Amino acid sequence: MKRTVIAAVLLCSVSAFAQKFEGLALTPPMGWNSWNCFGCDVNEVLIMQAADAMIESGMKDVGYQYIVIDDCWHGERDSLGFIHPNPEHFPSGMKVLSDYIHSKGLKFGIYSDAGWKTCGGHPGSRGYEYQDALTYAEWGVDYLKYDWCNTDDLNAKGAYMNMRNALFAAERPIVFSLCEWGNNQPWEWGKEVGHLWRISGDIAPIFDGEEGHGSWISWGVLQILDMRPDIRKYAGPDHWNDFDMMEVGNGMSVAEDRAHFSLWCMMASPLMAGNDLQHMSQETITILTNREVIAVNQDSLGIQGFRCYQKDDWEIWAKPLKGGDMALCFLNRGKNTEKIEFDWGEKIIKDDEFKKQVSFVEKEYQIRDLWTKKDIGTTKQIFKTKIASHDVVMLRLFKK
Ligand code: GLA
Repeated sequence: MKRTVIAAVLLCSVSAFAQKFEGLALTPPMGWNSWNCFGCDVNEVLIMQAADAMIESGMKDVGYQYIVIDDCWHGERDSLGFIHPNPEHFPSGMKVLSDYIHSKGLKFGIYSDAGWKTCGGHPGSRGYEYQDALTYAEWGVDYLKYDWCNTDDLNAKGAYMNMRNALFAAERPIVFSLCEWGNNQPWEWGKEVGHLWRISGDIAPIFDGEEGHGSWISWGVLQILDMRPDIRKYAGPDHWNDFDMMEVGNGMSVAEDRAHFSLWCMMASPLMAGNDLQHMSQETITILTNREVIAVNQDSLGIQGFRCYQKDDWEIWAKPLKGGDMALCFLNRGKNTEKIEFDWGEKIIKDDEFKKQVSFVEKEYQIRDLWTKKDIGTTKQIFKTKIASHDVVMLRLFKK
């Protein structure tokens, strides 16, 4: 009898206090994830080299911090159910790897799945959530990406809450990244469960198009950008719409990489690089480390951008920023170079969702081009530019 009462009290207190760790992602998380470039071909040397390259390339200096091992790091569970890394690929063990990453001033991320098995067929966390959370805490994990393969009839919110509670009970603050692909509208319930949620199936290194894989499809940059125009109201500090890990440096043209990066910044998406950090071209480094473009992504208001103007093959995306500034991204979706003459004149950019607006009649704004890094006049003059196919011009408007 006594034991039942104690158990009931314990259970009540766990559920009453279970919550996500607040405040771990007040701006969109920035880091690197192994999947887009290396798939299942991961090992401890590769991960350490990625950490080294994040520092040597200057990425750490501009804000990237998470080094996340995606699927396929797993070995087997032992007789007590504890998970171990693959002993051939991670012979030193995860704690040593985690210590290495931490010694460089970076943070360590790992991957699991709410189902029986991960998408790559390795042990999933279903039924082992509390045990796995304890293991991750012991390893010094700072970020968990939690996938949605092999979940049968599981209720998505319930499954993700279960792991959220397990992480909380393990008492190590861990960013919780929900990778549920948008199947069960995670934006509607994700805020109390995790810090970011995927809004789409997997990205591919394609700017405009899709790639079939039999039973599933991976998406181009524009397809993900356009997929869910109505969910920006759900995103904000500590709870982000995740447009997926980036494909910058994975084979698109420099213009397309620049556009992809700019758009992810405009959408306040997490910025997880998905390329080979050890072997980056100077163009890739220049794109990934543009501080002024990153500042748009990391703006403390945390407002996701929206399309505010469309004409022929080009359009403008707007993102209200702290202090009344506004970021604008002119995007050319078409195959030909677009010659643009944009008269700010009577135009008003209005964000009804977040109650922000700029009116060029009432105020004059100074304009800075964030890629050429030049101040280019004010909104009193007509803005004239050319945008190459699949490229962008990204501006920041400062109140004068
Ligand atoms: C799913 C996810 C990807 C990646 C793979 C790993 O497809 O959406 O981002 O984690 O699984 O198998």
